Amino acid sequence: MSNLTIALAKGDGIGPEIMDATIELFKHAGVSKHLDFVPVEMGKAVFDKGNSKGMTDEAIKAVEELGLVFKGPMETPKGGGGKSINVTLRKMFNAYANLRTFKTLPGVHTVYSKAGVNIDLTIVRENIEDTYGGVEHRLSNDMIQCKRLISAPGSDEVHRFALQTARKLGIKKVHCGHKANIMKMTDGLFLERFKAMGKDFPELELGDVIVDALCMNLVIKPGQYAMVVLPNLQGDIVSDLCAGLVGGLGFAPSANIGKHVSLFEAVHGTAPDIAGKGIANPTALILSGLMMLRHVGMLGHAGVIENALLCALEQGVRTGDFGDPSKPVLSTKQFIAGVVDRLGSKPASVPGVAESGLGGPTFTRASKPVHQEVIRTFTNVVTQVVGCDIYIDTPMSTGTVAEEMQRICADTPFRLTIISNRGTQVWPTGTIYTECVDYYRTRFELREGVLPGSFGQSRCVALMDRVAEKFTICSYELLRTFDGIKGFSLAQGQ
Ligand code: NAI
Repeated sequence: MSNLTIALAKGDGIGPEIMDATIELFKHAGVSKHLDFVPVEMGKAVFDKGNSKGMTDEAIKAVEELGLVFKGPMETPKGGGGKSINVTLRKMFNAYANLRTFKTLPGVHTVYSKAGVNIDLTIVRENIEDTYGGVEHRLSNDMIQCKRLISAPGSDEVHRFALQTARKLGIKKVHCGHKANIMKMTDGLFLERFKAMGKDFPELELGDVIVDALCMNLVIKPGQYAMVVLPNLQGDIVSDLCAGLVGGLGFAPSANIGKHVSLFEAVHGTAPDIAGKGIANPTALILSGLMMLRHVGMLGHAGVIENALLCALEQGVRTGDFGDPSKPVLSTKQFIAGVVDRLGSKPASVPGVAESGLGGPTFTRASKPVHQEVIRTFTNVVTQVVGCDIYIDTPMSTGTVAEEMQRICADTPFRLTIISNRGTQVWPTGTIYTECVDYYRTRFELREGVLPGSFGQSRCVALMDRVAEKFTICSYELLRTFDGIKGFSLAQGQ
């Protein structure tokens, strides 16, 4: 049988050092008898050649064909300039679930390990949506917006993956982390879809927790959670917190799983401060590689490597960023040699991992999609237009904006119902203590006697046309009901 081929992107900064070391270890463990790694061009060097995607067309083609990528960290230009290639990769190829595991490791001393608190925690982070859409606009001199997008089918995909993974790993309780008390519609939907998906997994207990409380609880008593599934940004922040619980980013692996393409990488970045020195800790990348081996069915090889790694760690094999200070600090290469030397050994202080069989991969690639898919959760919903929010760029006072808008909509089917600034209602009621900026939301709803559904959105667009004669409109949102339920939030203080 021919080997399974995996795209290999070594990454930037410490990437090539830790990737070379990891592949070396995998070779010694016999992985290369079954897997071939083909290099693909991605990252800084590609950005530097003026390619704003940060990956060549050949690399994209290879990823699409192979469906599996083992990658080192890649540098992201800060602020303006190219977008994060790490985020682009996950989004472009729809690797929608980011699985991150955090475990207490022997020889990695933390306040928890010293207190005898064992940590074994899995975070599943939604990987495509939320503010990571990177949909940002300057709306006025003083206001910038980032759109936070949460969809029902996007939430369903990640919840299904999380609950299936919990089932596979024998996890009994799964929590959904969220901020649905404040973002009632976006996080509310994420939570609602979690509960709906849970019905297909009756053996699992479900819980939910507000993300700020989650952070505190994780620090105080990390053992009370086994798996937490979170929206993108919250999941990113919480997983770095969890990395801290087990000794830092050097010990946090991750897998980005999708229907067609999955990417395996460490949580940490390119560590520019230590790049090129040969001292980086390869543990997180090794653990990410083990997630990949298990993903393709090479459980035996993964077990052998993990046992050797645990054995090395417990015996004080360490790089400079962790471990027993009385033991020598090793270079990346020496660290790997220490793990290679222990292949075939089992750890003494912690239970070893099952090594059953050293067979090749059992993985089969999903067949290539024939077209781009539109994923849907809710269909046959009856929607009716009930108004619009028109957002304007103006330094005028609230009173003046209200007068102008009431004049503009006087002979239309709409009446001005609220004006808000930064989400807080400032008209018709409000307080002079609310500070305003140069960006207002003006909400128009149907006048009394005009029934929802009397017309489509063209009347709203006509109203917007009139408003545009007087104001700069920076954005517009249609107000609709969905099966009779309002599809928009109230202003704070309304
Ligand atoms: P970072 O994770 O690269 O570094 C944070 C700190 O942790 C540094 O002090 C670094 O020396 C240390 N560190 C990280 N990994 C280590 C390792 N394996 N061994 C020993 N020490 C390690 O985060 P930072 O500095 O915020 O980001 C640097 C660059 O990496 C940025 O361009 C960022 O966008 C990119 N990045 C890429 C990621 C990816 O490829 N998935 C993830 C996070 C950041």
